[in-house]
Amino acid sequence: MFIVDEISVRYNQKVTLQNFSFSVEEGEVLSIIGPNGSGKSTLLKAIAGFTPYYEGVVVLDGENIRAMKSKKIAQKMCMLSQKNEAPADMTVCDLVSYGRYPHKKWYERLNEKDMEIVEWAIQRTYLTAYKNRPVASLSGGESQRAWIAMALAQQPKVLLLDEPTTYLDIAHQHEVLELVKELNAEMGMTVLMVLHDLNQASQYSDRIIVVKSGEKAMDGTPKEMMTTPMIRSVYQMDAEIQFRPKEEKPRIHLLKKVN
Ligand SMILES: Nc1ncnc2c1ncn2[C@@H]1O[C@H](COP(=O)(O)OP(=O)(O)O)[C@@H](O)[C@H]1O
Ligand SMILES: [Mg+2]
Repeated sequence: MFIVDEISVRYNQKVTLQNFSFSVEEGEVLSIIGPNGSGKSTLLKAIAGFTPYYEGVVVLDGENIRAMKSKKIAQKMCMLSQKNEAPADMTVCDLVSYGRYPHKKWYERLNEKDMEIVEWAIQRTYLTAYKNRPVASLSGGESQRAWIAMALAQQPKVLLLDEPTTYLDIAHQHEVLELVKELNAEMGMTVLMVLHDLNQASQYSDRIIVVKSGEKAMDGTPKEMMTTPMIRSVYQMDAEIQFRPKEEKPRIHLLKKVN
């Protein structure tokens, strides 16, 4: 679906990402984990085409994104940041409608078909009762769902999510990740997300990439990645890894900081 080939990013001469390469198959759910400041958001922004100053190549659906207009990228890929802010008076319906614009010419208005898609996205994220509420008045979980609804209306093949659960309580974290899982299963949407919680990364991903100091440290299945040496080397934590019968994904119990 897309290929990241030898991406390097520098901010003020400081190397933030170095020779980062991987590829993602259509329909895959891939999580990126790693400490704060290791370059995860920088990587997502480069893939989404938000960071023009990088070395290397990102190929989306067979095309170099450098050669693609931002509108064309938006038809295929949507990125949601950690915290998304909507203008004060924008309603849920307005926000979700924005998702349709990458598919319209500049002079075109949204037609009936677009509004059907908007309705569907609102329903799909359980926001029908909130349709006319300003996004700014929603709780964290509702607001995150509204942004996901906008992404759905955009009908991208690839969804990039930067810490989609960070500001949510555990029930709403679960809700957002379950929604992502359903979208992947129902629509075959390819998902690349940054997660902090190792158990969530393990449970919800087909594959995990571990980032350390701007470099790809490891890449593999949750079972391959979630090991005590990885957690020790990347997070300086002791941990216990548990495999429950009939469960393919490991559970991680963090124990204590390694001195
Ligand atoms: N726009 C920017 N200008 C300068 N430095 C930046 C910028 N964005 C990120 N950085 C730096 O790059 C490093 C990686 O940041 P980031 O990709 O946000 O890490 P992560 O998402 O893994 O926490 C950090 O040291 C951060 O301070
Ligand atoms: Mg980040």
